[in-house]
Amino acid sequence: MKAAVLKKIQTPLVLEELSNREAKPGHVIVELRTASLNRRDDWITRGLYPGIQVPAIMGSDGAGIVLEVGPGVSGDWLGQEVILYPGIHWGDCEEAQSSTFQVLGMPTDGTFATQIMASEAALHKKHRHLNWDESAALPLAGLTAWRAVFKQARLQPGETILITGVGGGVAALALQFAVHAGGQVWVTSSSKEKIEQAIAMGAKGGSNYHSEDWYRSVLDQAGAPQVIIDGAGGKGYGRLIEIVAPGGRIVNYGATAGYPDKVDLFKIFWKQIRLQGSTMGSPSDFQAMHAMVESKAIKPPISGTFALKEVNHALDQMRLGTHFGKIVLRCG
Ligand SMILES: NC(=O)c1ccc[n+]([C@@H]2O[C@H](COP(=O)([O-])OP(=O)(O)OC[C@H]3O[C@@H](n4cnc5c(N)ncnc54)[C@H](OP(=O)(O)O)[C@@H]3O)[C@@H](O)[C@H]2O)c1
Repeated sequence: MKAAVLKKIQTPLVLEELSNREAKPGHVIVELRTASLNRRDDWITRGLYPGIQVPAIMGSDGAGIVLEVGPGVSGDWLGQEVILYPGIHWGDCEEAQSSTFQVLGMPTDGTFATQIMASEAALHKKHRHLNWDESAALPLAGLTAWRAVFKQARLQPGETILITGVGGGVAALALQFAVHAGGQVWVTSSSKEKIEQAIAMGAKGGSNYHSEDWYRSVLDQAGAPQVIIDGAGGKGYGRLIEIVAPGGRIVNYGATAGYPDKVDLFKIFWKQIRLQGSTMGSPSDFQAMHAMVESKAIKPPISGTFALKEVNHALDQMRLGTHFGKIVLRCG
């Protein structure tokens, strides 16, 4: 098999020929057709992620065909087209993952490869309405977006929801989920074009987070949002606390822009708002996300596809920040 391996942090991934994996009991070998990038891959290659172990085959999102089943796995899986759950050992609690939870790809073998060994429990049948690129674009971002919007924020039809940094992989899926759930969706982004793309996908409008008064512009256009879904954090986080409606919910799943410089406790208790963290999601969240994707025929937006051997260009594309949605690798 071929795989894109991180051998040393802050160096490009190296495409290597490795020996094929053998399926352990309860596991299968999937011949990967496509994988997709997440910001996590960038953080790891730059050395900005906890517990980095090298060498590591990178990649958390994958879709492909079951090539081999290990002992104890039903032969019915052979030849099935599948999407992989991107977590390992979520555990029994729906509120949060177990202490042994891992994300697929570093330290375990990831999806930037032609094959992967996956647990039978991680297999989910590919949706017929999604092509291979869209299938690999869905798992991690879709799971994170679904849990943030529905399990954590409990978005209700008709509520005003603000999604920050809509060009991001998670945010673009959160936009689609919220629109389909009947939310009045507003967005922020770094570019006019991305805001226009979000409007074409059902958003009511948006503001550019690079402008000084972006938060006032949100209030002027949308009023105070009852729900905010944020993956950026940074200085803008304090503004979210300012603009959220009294009794509102702010769900944060990432910190692309770093730590907030100010968190106004007075506003938090006076407005009776909820600040909620969210990380990926449980296997049952994954099922629920797929049920919505299937019933509403949702397709994750793809902004670029690269061959596996071009993985470093794909990572550069993500770092450039011009993408809207997901960047996909063609593995086979
Ligand atoms: N907790 C979890 O389970 C989980 C899961 C997935 C991701 N994450 C984290 O969530 C973040 C996003 O992940 P991703 O894979 O969606 O990454 P991504 O595709 O690279 O998206 C990042 C987006 O952040 C937006 N952004 C950058 N600076 C911003 C700012 N100052 N204010 C508002 N938005 C800003 C940009 O939006 P525009 O393009 O619109 O400008 C950009 O597209 C990352 O930090 C990642 O590590 C966490």
